[in-house]
Amino acid sequence: MTEVVHTPRVFSGIQPSGGLTLGNYLGAIKRFVDMQESGIETLYCMVDLHAITVWQDPADLRHNTRELAAGYIAAGLDPAKSILFNQSQVSAHAELGWLFSCVARMGWMKRMTQFKDKAGKNAENASLGLFGYPALMAADILIYHSTHVPVGEDQKQHLELTRDVAAKFNHDFGVDFFPMTEPVIEGAATRVMSLRDGTKKMSKSDPSDAARINMTDDADTIAKKIRKAKTDPDALPSEAKGLEDRPEARNLVNIFAALSDQSADAVLADVGGKQFSEFKPMLVDLAVEKLSPISAEMARLMGDPAEIDRILGQGSARARKIANPILEKTYDIVGMIRS
Ligand code: AMP
Ligand code: TRP
Repeated sequence: MTEVVHTPRVFSGIQPSGGLTLGNYLGAIKRFVDMQESGIETLYCMVDLHAITVWQDPADLRHNTRELAAGYIAAGLDPAKSILFNQSQVSAHAELGWLFSCVARMGWMKRMTQFKDKAGKNAENASLGLFGYPALMAADILIYHSTHVPVGEDQKQHLELTRDVAAKFNHDFGVDFFPMTEPVIEGAATRVMSLRDGTKKMSKSDPSDAARINMTDDADTIAKKIRKAKTDPDALPSEAKGLEDRPEARNLVNIFAALSDQSADAVLADVGGKQFSEFKPMLVDLAVEKLSPISAEMARLMGDPAEIDRILGQGSARARKIANPILEKTYDIVGMIRS
């Protein structure tokens, strides 16, 4: 069989399950903007169906979906260039998600570390949706025949599973229909760590607000959190390899590097030898300079929720135009009558 060449198409998504963090911005959204600017077709989704795999208060979900859309736009995603939409408005995601839950195997799901982390000790009481989450994620990506998916480091395993689903579907039905998607895990901050514990990921669900920078934090709050961030007593090294056993120091240097679009080595060539008492104020200035305009723009956009809803509605219509023919073809391959 000749191999089908798929035109480049980028897809990624973020759950509207809380506020956006600096981890989401540096690990994901900033990369989304870069890919938009590279001229490839880009689709960015608020994955509301994924969010409800754990309990979401309906009013909060609505608010968080709009705020996430505002965050995307404020950070530089342009609805005229990228397709911005929420997942539940494109029913093809859920439909292909079902087909994929009949392709993916229980054993694959059981190995997923995100499920183990989120379900915790009481896995018997987790929702079935949380368990099957990666099948829906594979559908999000493959319903557009996406070729590239920018994400943070923590999503690598899910993207491997997406490739497994595509390969098994193609093999089971003897087709070369779904592409082998490439993860794009790039930049200086693919895994932003907690400001309180350099061995834990910065997360919107961390009980301590001091552990993260939220995209809605004002300048004073950002400054306070960085000043209080855990560090060690040593001066900064002059090369990134000197940070190997210093998780907190490495995290702050990586954040600086990502915010200033440099490598950690380039940052350390400048600041190597400095103490944190000198480096932290530099990081505060940089973070405030880069993040304040975004949070101000988010607040402005949130003043007009109807406009956000309109953008999501238009994006969804564009997304459906791509997704529906691929869904129809998939149903046909599987043997469903569509009269
Ligand atoms: P989530 O908030 O779990 O829906 O994640 C949305 C996107 O942000 C995914 O691509 C994640 O990999 C990325 N992300 C979340 N937290 C971090 C972090 N601490 N560092 C880097 N990327 C992150
Ligand atoms: N699982 C991702 C997360 O928790 C969110 C997500 C859902 C996603 N569907 C996706 C990311 C498709 C990339 C592509 O961060």
